[in-house]
Amino acid sequence: MKNKDSWTHVTGKSIYIDDMITRSDTLHGIVFASSVAKGKIISIDYSKAEKAEGVVRIFTYKDISGENQIGKVVQDEELWAKDEVEFCGQPIALIVAESEFLGRQARNLIEINIEEEEAITTASEAYEKNMILGKPRHFCSGNTKEAFENCDFIFEGKTFSNGQEHLYLETQGCYVIPQENDGLKIFASTQAPTNIQVIVSRVLGIPMHKIEVDVQRLGGGFGGKEDQATAWSTMAAVAVQHLKIPVKIILNRHDDLYMTGKRHPYESTFKIGLTKDLKIKAFEAKYLQNSGAATDLSLAVAERTMFHATNSYFIENVKTSVYSCKTNLPPNTAFRGFGGPQGMFVIESAIAKAANEIGVSKEKIQYKNLIQENDSFYYGQKAKKVETKKCWDIATKTFDFDSLKKEVENFNQKEKYFKKGISIMPIAFGISFTVISMNQARALLHIYQDGSVGISTGAVEMGQGVNTKIVQIAAKEFGLNTSKIKIESTNTTRVANTSPSAASSTTDLNGKALLQACNLIKDRLKKIAANHLDEKEEDLFFESNEIKGKQKSIVWEDLIELALKERAQLSEKGHYITPEINFDREKEKGHPFSYHVYGTAISVVTVDCLRGIYEIDKVHIVHDFGKSMNEDVDLGQIEGGLVQGIGWMTSEEISYNGNGRLLSNSLSTYKIPDLFSIPKEIKVKALETENDSAAIYKSKAVGEPPLMYGIGIYFAIQNAIESFNNNYDLKFHSPFTPEKVLMSLYEPLKQKNPSK
Ligand code: MTE
Ligand code: HPA
Ligand code: MOS
Repeated sequence: MKNKDSWTHVTGKSIYIDDMITRSDTLHGIVFASSVAKGKIISIDYSKAEKAEGVVRIFTYKDISGENQIGKVVQDEELWAKDEVEFCGQPIALIVAESEFLGRQARNLIEINIEEEEAITTASEAYEKNMILGKPRHFCSGNTKEAFENCDFIFEGKTFSNGQEHLYLETQGCYVIPQENDGLKIFASTQAPTNIQVIVSRVLGIPMHKIEVDVQRLGGGFGGKEDQATAWSTMAAVAVQHLKIPVKIILNRHDDLYMTGKRHPYESTFKIGLTKDLKIKAFEAKYLQNSGAATDLSLAVAERTMFHATNSYFIENVKTSVYSCKTNLPPNTAFRGFGGPQGMFVIESAIAKAANEIGVSKEKIQYKNLIQENDSFYYGQKAKKVETKKCWDIATKTFDFDSLKKEVENFNQKEKYFKKGISIMPIAFGISFTVISMNQARALLHIYQDGSVGISTGAVEMGQGVNTKIVQIAAKEFGLNTSKIKIESTNTTRVANTSPSAASSTTDLNGKALLQACNLIKDRLKKIAANHLDEKEEDLFFESNEIKGKQKSIVWEDLIELALKERAQLSEKGHYITPEINFDREKEKGHPFSYHVYGTAISVVTVDCLRGIYEIDKVHIVHDFGKSMNEDVDLGQIEGGLVQGIGWMTSEEISYNGNGRLLSNSLSTYKIPDLFSIPKEIKVKALETENDSAAIYKSKAVGEPPLMYGIGIYFAIQNAIESFNNNYDLKFHSPFTPEKVLMSLYEPLKQKNPSK
């Protein structure tokens, strides 16, 4: 099935928040935010703004009837700053005006006096000042201290990976309409409708049942609308509570860039120990996460970093620590991979460093240490149905890695000012929310009397194709054409207490809930059909719009009519929880993931050694789809994830000045991949396995894992630099912008650290 939204997307008919037909009296909210990263609010004078043309009212913390608190996991984030500000872009007030334009004009008239204090912008500064959110986490397996004593090589190093802007095409937004008896209907661009319901309930001091959150689709989320979509709806809800008039907030791109958190930058250190035969015996890492000014999802992101510290490798002795460091940046948040990519960058850097120092190729060390069946991940989960080695072997064989490498070498011998580089990037990504309780979902299924089907689940469509897959599930189960099946909006009144659509688990969780509902109705329909056709229930099956037995069959619509006459229930719900997962946070051991997704990417780049610019020639991937239920949608996820990962590793450079002010605050200063910078050739080969039945129809989660193939590009560029500059001292500081490449190509002679 083609992505069910593609036609309305390309014809501009898909409806996003800003496309909704609004009531004629609708007002517009403009957020007034701090322009200072840290300080005490001395005074604010709203009087001029309040008198400005078109301004209806300005709302602040004083207008909150419940709590001024939007923190979901930890309650440490005000909706509107009261006495102090902790980051640039922190909301202080909402101007409600007759138009967005007039609201913006009024915003310029607010006079604020903040006593500025010194801002902390980097994780290491915060760490030194002991500004830590939550508890640091320490994972340990084996004994690294003893193991290092038996290593032939030991290397240490540090890494930095920068943040990343989500840059969803649809900016944050919502439309809130008053209902009778103080109820609210909230249309929002959110991955987490229930989070909005919970927070609006808390801030307004009204029960959740008065709040209905509805989501049609998002123009992208990428994690940026898991917890960070909440504030805007809550602000509008406060205004609606007072005014009883609908209020809409759509952040413009500039406000969105300025006010929202991003992927967490990480400053990390590592120590890696190997034996002469290149077995990694011990690995230690310490991760300093730049969490921003409030906890948001930082602790869960930090935890996922820990789970991916060893990527696809089996290492017997591992010790890791992570610190969520509180800084004066907007609260950083979920971003595709959710801390996993940051962890993987460190181990890949450690291996690159070891390879360079020992004088072997990086892939030799990688291959030697790939995790295999029945090895344990260092947090205790036994590796089952591991595809690491298979992906690697098929990738190197199918794409003829040896020849590629030869070509690179030949090219580099011939060319003086152009150098090619090559790398292999294996991935192993754990599927499940790391918070066990979040691994649940529900579905609500109606069969209407004409035989058409309506489905509600907790799944939010954000471009990843979950709605298409949900349609496929019902179509397959009932043997119907997909045109007979409609996906309803995601709505908290129809499906309650939903987990966010995140962790790549949306189709697994919601799809399996739907499967249960389908099966309940199928059983009921089979009874009716068996009676009617004089066939055995167990012989009946649903196919091509009919229920068929050994001899006879009945058309779907006729069966539904019959069922209705017999007063059979034609609605069902399903409830699914992921089995078998657990994690003990005292011991820091357990089995947190339902399964892993594996893959291997081979990348080739060409660096222009006069200019420092580079092109990506090839990315060839073998990816473990399980048994893909939709190859088009899944290929889209691989390509999109890869390119997003490449952007993170190469050109997307988030930059704050020392005062915590975002410098990369527009698309002229923040460079995302474009048509010219994407790989010239992307090949994706499916690993053909009948894998895990933990995945829906054995079709594995695909949303986040491919982003991490992009990490390979960093090391391919590094590989090219190594062949140009013998004295290049490897650095692990992403993104590898052309400026940094140029410096690396010509950096002065340095004595290499002799190692043990
Ligand atoms: N693909 C598109 N087109 N748009 C998105 O916002 N989000 C990514 C990924 N792919 C995203 C996307 C992220 S961060 C996640 S967690 C998953 O999709 C969420 O959807 P899934 O659980 O259905 O894979
Ligand atoms: N992934 C994405 N979102 C989450 C997770 C996770 O593991 N845990 C809590 N929110
Ligand atoms: Mo994705 S970062 O789990 O929304």
